[in-house]
Amino acid sequence: MFKSTNLDQFTFPFKAKTYRYSNDLVELPEKKVNFMKITPEYKVQIERKRQILNEKPEARYQSFPHTMEMQWEFLEMIIDMAVSAYPEHFSIEKVGDQWTFENRILGEKDVFIFGDETSLPFEPFDYIGRHFHNDFMLMVHRDNNYHLEIGQISFAALFSANWNVGMSFNEIHAPVPFVSRTGVELVDRIRKFLLTIEPGKPRTRVNWNLMADAWDVNYESMDEWGPERYKVTKENAGELVHLRVEEQWFIKMPRSNAILFVLDTQFLPLEDLVMRPAWLELTYSNLSDIPDAMAEYKGMAPFLAQSVEYLKNLRAELASN
Ligand code: HEM
Repeated sequence: MFKSTNLDQFTFPFKAKTYRYSNDLVELPEKKVNFMKITPEYKVQIERKRQILNEKPEARYQSFPHTMEMQWEFLEMIIDMAVSAYPEHFSIEKVGDQWTFENRILGEKDVFIFGDETSLPFEPFDYIGRHFHNDFMLMVHRDNNYHLEIGQISFAALFSANWNVGMSFNEIHAPVPFVSRTGVELVDRIRKFLLTIEPGKPRTRVNWNLMADAWDVNYESMDEWGPERYKVTKENAGELVHLRVEEQWFIKMPRSNAILFVLDTQFLPLEDLVMRPAWLELTYSNLSDIPDAMAEYKGMAPFLAQSVEYLKNLRAELASN
């Protein structure tokens, strides 16, 4: 289990005192269009990501055979972003179609032929994804919807490449009790909104959840993480329960017209909220007001009350010091 140690790089999810589902996609400020982010946890996360991918390759990575051109488009975009954001860590040298990509943090240097997948140890999407801690999915535009055709998914919750590949945006969201404050069904509204995203104008949103002592929470591993949720008490919640945040990017790919969905999953144990009292207040206020259907869906129902109690006591402790 890893946590964010540089709180300036942690994406705190709550903006208001209460949370409900909404079409909360917003435009990205210029400095966030490039989602590359190297944190102190970079090496640990990459090591773990590669291990997860190697242990259950079919569960964690899936692609349709006709996606190869899109995969190269993705590889090129990711390399350009990495080199532009962190030239001290990443470099690319192009001699005709022969590319040399160097990752100096990991001490790795690979030479391959752009457009020839036999020159790489993995498919292009899978290969370049293994250098960055994000989860990556390509949603291909067809029949006025987006369909998941490539996914490299290691840290995402209730989501696996194996389970979700081929599904449309609406099918993927079918289990979510996705209604607004006023009871409006959101899935189809958001699908329509997604169709309007243009290349060069990506959108973002932040999703959040609570996790009890586990970060790998896929349907395939529920037997492992499900029981952990019942160990939480108001005494140990600070250590066991983590605020789990997904910062998400939606990027329209200019050549393939697909949407690239990128997740940056971050964890913060509740006890660390003490370092940012304003965050502690907002987390307490939001968690005190979660509708039952949402708590059930998010899987936090077995330990939500204990977590709220823990935060209440932490606030009182802070106030008395
Ligand atoms: C286009 C790419 C997207 C993909 C691949 C995707 C995928 C997913 C998946 C796999 C889940 C979990 C579903 C389950 O329980 O089985 C989920 C949940 C959810 N998605 Fe998406 N999503 C996408 C876009 C969006 C957008 C644009 C929004 C909102 C504007 C959104 C809002 C949500 C919400 C609110 C949940 C419930 C999460 C929770 O309460 O913790 N998604 N999504």
